[in-house]
Amino acid sequence: MIKLTINGEQHELDIPDNMPLLWAIRDIVGMKGTKFGCGIGQCGACTVHMDGVATRSCSTPVSAVQGEITTIEAMADDPVGQKVQQAWLDLGVAQCGYCQGGQIMNATALLKKTPAPETGEIVDAMEGNLCRCGTYNRILAAIERAAD
Ligand code: FES
Repeated sequence: MIKLTINGEQHELDIPDNMPLLWAIRDIVGMKGTKFGCGIGQCGACTVHMDGVATRSCSTPVSAVQGEITTIEAMADDPVGQKVQQAWLDLGVAQCGYCQGGQIMNATALLKKTPAPETGEIVDAMEGNLCRCGTYNRILAAIERAAD
């Protein structure tokens, strides 16, 4: 039995130890906000927070989960997540939208750790989150807007 705490709710799941966390979140728990992009830790679409640290859920087996998992569904209840999402809306960041949950999760983790990052720090922190629509300039502008 695998025990996971996701967005403050405890789950006891009868799943294999090596199941990727992304599978557990989407297919077992049924929360679909976290996306499957590449499945090999290369794109960032599946980003969640593990005790506040941006983590790629596609390449994290459930047996390796330590601490609390937070997903995009909980960002509306998080003060920094709210600011980031509002900036995303204000600037119309999303195009197709598929990668944007992962982008927001990574951006929120950055601003929680570094509330007023330099532009270069934002670029460095976000460079592993891919967007096939090329919304990178708007993502950068939104993070700067949400920063203190
Ligand atoms: Fe996890 Fe691409 S789906 S990094």
